Amino acid sequence: MLDQSNELAAWDRDHFFHPSTHMGTHARGESPNRVMAGGEGVTIWDVGGKKSIDAFAGLYCVNVGYGRQKIADAIATQARNLAYYHAYVGHGTDASIRLSKMIIDRAPKGMSRVYYGLSGSDANETNIKLIWYYNNVLGRPEKKKIISRWRGYHGSGVMTGSLTGLAGFHNAFDLPRAPVLHTEAPYYYRRDDRSLSQEQFSQFCADQLEKLILAQGPETIAAFIGEPVLGTGGIVPPPKGYWEKIQGVLKKYDILLVADEVVTGFGRLGTMFGSDHYGMEPDLITIAKGLTSAYAPLSGVIVGDKVWKVLVEGSDKLGPIGHGWTYSAHPICAAAGVANLELIDELDLVRNAGETGAYFRSELARAVADHKHVGEVRGEGMLAAVEFVEDRDDRKFFDPARKIGPQVATALAERGVIGRAMPQGDILGFAPPLCLTREEADIVVAKTADAVKAVLG
Ligand SMILES: Cc1ncc(COP(=O)(O)O)c(C=O)c1O
Repeated sequence: MLDQSNELAAWDRDHFFHPSTHMGTHARGESPNRVMAGGEGVTIWDVGGKKSIDAFAGLYCVNVGYGRQKIADAIATQARNLAYYHAYVGHGTDASIRLSKMIIDRAPKGMSRVYYGLSGSDANETNIKLIWYYNNVLGRPEKKKIISRWRGYHGSGVMTGSLTGLAGFHNAFDLPRAPVLHTEAPYYYRRDDRSLSQEQFSQFCADQLEKLILAQGPETIAAFIGEPVLGTGGIVPPPKGYWEKIQGVLKKYDILLVADEVVTGFGRLGTMFGSDHYGMEPDLITIAKGLTSAYAPLSGVIVGDKVWKVLVEGSDKLGPIGHGWTYSAHPICAAAGVANLELIDELDLVRNAGETGAYFRSELARAVADHKHVGEVRGEGMLAAVEFVEDRDDRKFFDPARKIGPQVATALAERGVIGRAMPQGDILGFAPPLCLTREEADIVVAKTADAVKAVLG
């Protein structure tokens, strides 16, 4: 919705530097700017009153849906009572302490403490520093390299942008920087050797990882980071047996596992954590998004017992840990987190993510999987993706310059549903709020089928 006459739209073009936006077309008014105004449940509307179903929950974060009074009230009460106090030198608030207990109660077994930040990116920066500190305390200063996967997404800071395995986040930023290494993406549909079964491809990924570790020297590899389901890299659930095989390799060489659960944490896969869903036993877990459903910015690193013990030893040797953010455990954000986690339980949203998510994915497959330009419909819980190809039988991908994925996403938006053209490949992604109903899922599916037909015939 291009509104060049509107004063706000003009100020937007002239003064607002938007993330992940083409700077030139935006500034010149050649690409859409949409000024958002309100939301309720899965629906949002802009200043012009145009409503859309947000089938990507913002950036897969508004998990409880928009307009929840309970969270707004918790934020307002906290702002009135104590808008801010820091968390340094042992300070806390009722909200930050309560939230820590709630997170550990919900986390996979073996988790010990929560360190807070404001974004998934800064939480992963914390992870990297904790991993280095851990190995220094253990007297292994050479064990510092971190392995991530091609197509992984872990943020866009200097180090987290390096962990991210997507070219668009590296180009012209001099990334990735050492000591980050990338290994095979667990992307079965795009595997090179199409004769492999899922289990064989998982074994291939584990073998590739082991080769990389041996080539670099296991004594130099500190950690492996991965999202339980690849998110921004294409919404790709792992092939069968993947995490079991990967964890076997990591254990063999004493390498820490970081589960980046920024997307999957707090219910999106139909289980509280993706680690539970796939039998992962991480040493560190990254959380953000669903922790507050984005009503206020808050992220965290959940530190497992094994790492925590060493960190404590570090403090005994070196003094207080030299790592802190002004806004760590910000009381307003923590209050939003407490209300949000309570709401997830009260509304039984984890169960709904599993059940309605399965219904949504099967209806989506029924509606579009047979289209001659649909290569795959996939997903898990309340995450789904449709991958478009030029030729299904030859698995020939479209020339990226044709921008088929973005075209379908635009056609869908014109029909009142927001999906996301994933940044690498012609992939239409869905990550609706976990409160999605079957009736709403039906609308998303019908509009998607219509948009696919409009663009691809
Ligand atoms: C898995 C994962 N990790 C980290 C991040 C980075 O989070 P943020 O954008 O809050 O820095 C994201 C963001 O989408 C993500 O999906």
